[in-house]
Parts: sequence; C-alpha cells; structure tokens
Amino acid sequence: MSLMNIIRKVRYKIGKLFKGSETVPVIEALKRYKKNPCTGFHIPGHNRGNMIGADFKDLIGTEVFTVDATDEFDNLGTLLPQSGAIQKAQELASDVFNTKRTFFITTGSTIGNLALALGATRPNDEIIIGRNCHRSVITGAIMSGANPNWLIPKKLEDWEIFGNIDPKDLENILKEKKDVKLVWITNPTYEGIVSDIKEIARICKKYKVILAVDEAHGSLWNFNDRLPTSALEQGADLVVHSLHKTGGAMVQGSLLHISKDSEIDPKKIEAALQLVHTTSPSMILLASMDSARAMLCSKKGQEAVNSAIENAKYFRNKVKTIENVSVLDEKNGIKIDITKIFLKIKGLSGKTLEKILKDEYKIEIESAYDEGILILSNIGSTKAEFDYLLNAIKQISKKNIKEEERTSKLMPLLDPKILMSPRDAYFAQKERVPKENAPDRICTEIIAFCPPGISILLPGELITKEHLNYLADKDSIEVLKVR
Ligand SMILES: Cc1ncc(COP(=O)(O)O)c(C=O)c1O
Repeated sequence: MSLMNIIRKVRYKIGKLFKGSETVPVIEALKRYKKNPCTGFHIPGHNRGNMIGADFKDLIGTEVFTVDATDEFDNLGTLLPQSGAIQKAQELASDVFNTKRTFFITTGSTIGNLALALGATRPNDEIIIGRNCHRSVITGAIMSGANPNWLIPKKLEDWEIFGNIDPKDLENILKEKKDVKLVWITNPTYEGIVSDIKEIARICKKYKVILAVDEAHGSLWNFNDRLPTSALEQGADLVVHSLHKTGGAMVQGSLLHISKDSEIDPKKIEAALQLVHTTSPSMILLASMDSARAMLCSKKGQEAVNSAIENAKYFRNKVKTIENVSVLDEKNGIKIDITKIFLKIKGLSGKTLEKILKDEYKIEIESAYDEGILILSNIGSTKAEFDYLLNAIKQISKKNIKEEERTSKLMPLLDPKILMSPRDAYFAQKERVPKENAPDRICTEIIAFCPPGISILLPGELITKEHLNYLADKDSIEVLKVR
C-alpha cells in the first residue's frame, strides 16, 4: 500500500477531512460573475435571464440564469485547455482522487468513454472489453477503429445478470492474443458486483497492457474505506466516474482520471477530449462538480456517505428476513458495493414489482430487470425512506403471488458471435429488415436499452433466434446489406 493510501486510511479512521473541502474555485468565480454583471453582448443569448420562456421560468425561477454561462467569459477560466478557476477545481479533484490528472466532463461518462477510446487506442489495435460494458465503450471503439475481443463476465443465472470478471479468463485471452493494447473493464456492474481489479491490473502489467476501468457507478468509493477500493488505487491507468450518478453532482457531471503511476500522457487524453467534448461547457455543471468534490470531503459529506452505507446495511438485514424476498449478497466469492441493492420477490418479475411500487406506493426505483429490481442507497436517502420501502415490500410479498409467465427478456446473457469489427459493420452498406427476418444476418447497429445500456447486439455480430426474446420493443433491425 502506498504512503498516500495509508494516510488516506488514517484520515478516514480518525474522521479527519480531506484537504480542500472549504475551497470551491468555480463557485467563487461564479459568485464574482453574479455580483458584477457587465452589459453583455455574448452567448448565451438570454442575457442572464432577460428573455426566457415563461413556462420554463415558472418551472425553475430566474436565479439560475444569472450564472448560466459557459467558460471563457469574465475570468471564469477555461475547461479545454484548462485555465483559471476551472483548472484549480480540476487540480483539487485530482488531489482528492490522488491522480496524475483529472478532467471534468459536462457531457456525462459517455463522452469520458469516447475520449478514453480516442486517446488510448488507434485503428486496428486489439483491445479486450468486458461484454457487460455500457454502449458508449463500443461507440468509442467504432470511432477509434480499435478491434474488440470479448471478455465474458460470469453469469449469475439465478439473478439473470452478469457478475464479476474472472482474472483467469483475461489471462487466457492475453496468452493467446499477443498484440493487445488495452483492457477495458466495467467495475462495479450496474447491480454493484465488484471484480478483483488488483489481480486484473497485475495481469495487465505482466502483459504490458493499458487497463481502463469504467467506474461510472463507483465515484463514492474514494470517500469511504467500507466501500470497495477504487481502480485508481489498484493499478488501473484510466478511470471514468459519473460523479452525477452517486456523487452528488448534477446530471451529466463526470470525471475522467489518469492514475498517478500511469505512463499515459495527459496531453493525449486532453486532445481526445477536445475532439468530442462540447466547446460550451455549462458553468453550472462545472460548479456542481466542484461543489460535489468539496462536499464529499467535508464532515457533512463524510457523514452522508456513512449514512448511505448504514441505511443499506439496515435495509438489507431487514428485507432478507421477509418471506419470499431474496437479496443479492456477498457469498460464493461474490463481492459487492452494498449501497446497490438488487432484490427479488419470488414469482414476480422485476418489471411487475417496479410497477406495483410506482402505482401503489409512489416509489421510484433505479431499474427493473427480468428477475429483480435495483435500489440505490444514496447520500441523499434517509432511513425513513427505507422504512417506507421496507413496509411496501412486506405488503407486496404477502399478496398471493402467482408465478408470472415471462414472454420477453431484458438482460442479454448471450455469448456474442463476432463476424466483423464494429467499425466495419457500422460503416458498411446496410438495410432495415423486420426483426423476424433478422436471424442469420449481421447486425449493424448498437441495440442496448437504457438503463443499463448493456448491449443485446452490436455492429458486426450475428443475429440469432435467441436474440428475438430480448427485442420485444423493436420491430426492425438494421443489418448488413446482402449484395
Ligand atoms: C457503466 C456505465 N458507463 C458509462 C455510462 C454512461 O454514463 P453517462 O450517463 O454519465 O453518460 C453509464 C450510464 O448508465 C454506465 O452505466
């Protein structure tokens, strides 16, 4: 364990806060901007809220428009390349996450993944991707021209979801394919299952391969040692965080990190970000990321992360005592992030359970699958909310449930048959056919329903009859044109 990590652990234990929790450079810059309004002849054209649609104004008020700016103006700093207050905020985030460089992204981890692909891979590079990746990872490969080889995670058949990656499976591929440039793992899975990143990183180092980890759902891990350890501390080179998903930033606020020990040149990643990132980053989103980082370091933030963990433990312990209810837990070698709670009620599909919770209890969950539902214990959740949910689940589980017949499936657990690279298939001559006629043809589109955006079919893959079970919401599929 590095000295830095030991210091961090001690800080957690004695409750000492991270450095910089009081410093919010982007917020300070925006306060100055708000206090000293100029007569503006620039973008955005609403001129600090002077002309806004009445309905929108009714919905969100006028205050927000006084700081709705993009970078560049009035000494707010710039994002790409970084300067001023935005640079200071990124440096503070880099310090907290203990990285070589941290980039703020105002357009979600989707753009983080595209920049990662464009910055770290080249056309025809062989790369290994965990099959349960988000669709943006594949889009990245289509754009960069890298050639994906699939690493299929373990399948938890009881839950009909993907589980962890077995490091041995990775090593087997690396032994066979000598020219792999990058390994790209999603960790945790959407449902909170955690892979052994330390061992995966060791293998990547042995074969001199870059390790990228899509840690979109793990941005809180850095802030509490009772949560799994971030890939940034376990030897990954590049890590993506959706700070907006669990870290308290506003929607679309994400981070792309280069780890401290990585040899990746930050200039390369910055150049790739400049290719795909908006040139008008929202100062409000940047401020929300700056603030989320400071909040998570503060006493209040630390307490909120602790309470998300305590609430999750409390709920898990109670809910699993209810008859007919099962919770995905740490057993049989499975490791999880306990704040992500995947549960099922015997006989009910996840979709039906979701509907009952919504219609009868006004409870909105994170998502629902074939088998179960995903509930998040958030930094903003309260114990009283969990008690309400617990009560609802108790009542639902007592009803006389008849085993449901499931005609369509949601979570694809099929082994893909790759016949062409995603890029070649995507740019080939295509045609659209009714889905019933699609088996035995080559798919040319990404088919992945969100959430969680895991692909059912990708460009270049053979469509089989089994796929049709997962395509209830689609009438037609884009396929390779037959000459
Ligand atoms: C694992 C993973 N990576 C990346 C993304 C894309 O993130 P964003 O919605 O921030 O663009 C998602 C979105 O759900 C995801 O689940």
